[in-house]
Amino acid sequence: MYLKKLELKNYRNYSQANLDFDKNTILILGNNGNGKTNLLESVYYLSTGRSHKTYIQDEIIKWGSNYSTIKALIGSGRGDKEDRFIEIELRKGSSSNTKIRVDKTRRKKKSDFISLLPSVIFSPDDLNIIKSGPSGRRDFLDSVLEKIDGKYCRERTQYQKILMQRNSLIKSMGGSGRIDMENNPTLEAWDDNIVKYGIDIIKKRCGLLGELKGEFENYMSSFFKKASVDIFYIFSWDRKDSPDSFKSPLLSEMAGGNFTGGDLKEIFYGKLKDSQKKDIRYKTTTVGPHRDDFVILLDDKNARYFGSQGQQRVAAICLKLCELGILRRKLKRNPVLLLDDVFSELDIERKKLLVKAIGNDFQTFVTSTNISYLDRLDLDFGSKLLVKDNKITVLDL
Ligand SMILES: Nc1ncnc2c1ncn2[C@@H]1O[C@H](COP(=O)(O)OP(=O)(O)O)[C@@H](O)[C@H]1O
Ligand SMILES: [Mg+2]
Repeated sequence: MYLKKLELKNYRNYSQANLDFDKNTILILGNNGNGKTNLLESVYYLSTGRSHKTYIQDEIIKWGSNYSTIKALIGSGRGDKEDRFIEIELRKGSSSNTKIRVDKTRRKKKSDFISLLPSVIFSPDDLNIIKSGPSGRRDFLDSVLEKIDGKYCRERTQYQKILMQRNSLIKSMGGSGRIDMENNPTLEAWDDNIVKYGIDIIKKRCGLLGELKGEFENYMSSFFKKASVDIFYIFSWDRKDSPDSFKSPLLSEMAGGNFTGGDLKEIFYGKLKDSQKKDIRYKTTTVGPHRDDFVILLDDKNARYFGSQGQQRVAAICLKLCELGILRRKLKRNPVLLLDDVFSELDIERKKLLVKAIGNDFQTFVTSTNISYLDRLDLDFGSKLLVKDNKITVLDL
């Protein structure tokens, strides 16, 4: 699938934009702040039903407007008959006002349309997956799972609801000063539910990490020949907030994604029960997938703390390359690639390695402020666009 036509109305800085694309690589040039990222964001929205930059939908609507539309024709590459027409209408005030239609038919569930135009976005903010706290790493795993598993989004929402309910019960217990409430039957019931719903999330995330592990290590060693690389999941109960503590008894098993779910369930339940007193004291649930993490080791050191900026950037790119492979295998179609300013931060050798890793099989959108170094790479641009003064124009090749 590829993006054939895109029409934006009141999207970020664009009042109106009408664009036609072919399957080739598309270069989007423009100075800082002119709307390159905004354009890629609109394609990502079309693909996933959300922005990669914000959870606040109103931010996307052009200032001063109260609605925004994204319309697109998705080409199958097998003739016009199989093309799909997607329309998204956003209204200010509430994200529940969003209307999505595919071929004029309303789609109520996100999972009904998000695999139509799969996409992977590479953005400078990806550095945070490696550098920042665990939530960015959880978000990475969750966003990939949402794209490949129609049920995942619902399961996670369900878990969040149960977690909120357990937390409010815990707060009320602490408030009354009754720390001895730990074997309370209502709390036990929430614990059962936390485990029931949380275990699926943990298993799916570990399965995903197990699946991308080999590929990630291969990509990393193509970028950094000499470094040894490892990546594994960390359970909330094994997390310690010091740079060197990443060992835990189950990790070697988990890394391959081949743990026995039954045992894990028991361990999870035991850890949750053990943490009751502490949870009541801290007024929050300290055990569960909402506190899990994963760690990347480069030469046995945590990349988050000891990796150079360049190594961290490449590690984030390698995670995205793995996402690309996984989407392609699971959805059996080629995702669209959105490369937002990724080349500028890499040295020439790693720029070339990235171009090689991506290959020519994908419709790729590349943004840049500067064309000079791109000319030295083996990128074959089918078209070039310039964003300037809130308008997008096609440049002669
Ligand atoms: N909702 C909005 N309405 C109008 N303009 C917006 C909106 N959100 C962001 N912008 C504008 O978009 C600009 C950023 O565009 P961006 O795509 O990030 O630029 P770049 O070309 O550097 O990637 C900001 O400077 C801001 O002026
Ligand atoms: Mg940008």
